[in-house]
Amino acid sequence: MNNVRIVSTGSSVPELIITNDMLSKLVDTSDEWITTRTGIKNRRVSVDKDTSDLATEAAVSCIKKASVKAEEIELIIVATVTPDMFTPSTACIVQNKIGAFKASAFDINAACSGFIYGVDVAKSLLGCGRFRNALVIGAECLSKITNWEDRSTCVLFGDASGAVYMEVSDKPGIMKISTGAEGDKGNSLLSGALKPNNPFNRNNTSPYKDHFVKMNGQEVYRFATRVISESIKDIFEEFNLTEKDIKLIIPHQANLRIIEFASKKLNISIDKFYINLQDYGNTSSASIPLALNEAFEKGMISEGDKVIAVGFGGGLTYGSLLIQF
Ligand code: ACO
Repeated sequence: MNNVRIVSTGSSVPELIITNDMLSKLVDTSDEWITTRTGIKNRRVSVDKDTSDLATEAAVSCIKKASVKAEEIELIIVATVTPDMFTPSTACIVQNKIGAFKASAFDINAACSGFIYGVDVAKSLLGCGRFRNALVIGAECLSKITNWEDRSTCVLFGDASGAVYMEVSDKPGIMKISTGAEGDKGNSLLSGALKPNNPFNRNNTSPYKDHFVKMNGQEVYRFATRVISESIKDIFEEFNLTEKDIKLIIPHQANLRIIEFASKKLNISIDKFYINLQDYGNTSSASIPLALNEAFEKGMISEGDKVIAVGFGGGLTYGSLLIQF
């Protein structure tokens, strides 16, 4: 198998910042409740851009940093639960917008673990020689599936995108990826799809009235705290690592309490965890590449550094990644 490395990163967020105080005028909540229960202060909401627009902006900035021309890209994978439409896929829309006409393009849906799943698929296809490079993008307009009248969920989510450009390489690059799913717990985080609608089935048997996110917060919390801790522990044990060996851990940015739980349970300093959920909330598949790009832009990751990323979310799914840059 070829080694595969992440060469560059990019991201894009909408301009509009929605503060906790702004939300407290929409629903019965407060800055104090949201901050203490989640750590979130602000989130971005798209007014005029769709998921493919944010994905395109992240892709353009990412490939510019890698000094790669769009027509050289061979594979585009977009991880999203909020595509512009069912078809064409968001990846095909991005392919067209950036002019990557030689690329194969498709979307995947693994909710908040979608970026890790996307990197896993791309790494496998590059590793076996099918393609030589890939763009993997996590992009969401979660504001489209947010019920702005439900205080238990509307305070959590935001819109964003992040991208990585990956190439076959001599360097170690992506040292380990694992993914998993617990479909038996899928009902704890739902967003409905199309209802049956044909002349032969007038009884709408779908239990879902709308496409808004519905979440059993405590069940997801229990799942998230378990898998984030196990995923990081497994990587540390498999590679015989200590905290000093890792430059940063980039967790899915769902809730500060989940990250603090993992930090305490694993006895790893909270400073090792990159946290930007206070600015963007939970942006599902965009959250890890957005944070990774931000960490690079702040100069927090240098060549040779090892970074762990961990995702968890709808499905329920989870995944983790050990990268040497
Ligand atoms: N403002 C004020 N009060 C609220 C709000 C709000 N925004 N939301 C809920 N409440 C109330 C509830 O109605 C409840 O009131 P009651 O006691 O009178 O019934 C009380 O606050 C406690 O509600 P809980 O749901 O028990 O609150 P909890 O402490 O569990 O926090 C939260 C909720 C933040 C959602 C937490 O369960 C959580 O973080 N779960 C994990 C969810 C998550 O991380 N999801 C993302 C992972 S998956 C993905 O990324 C898509």
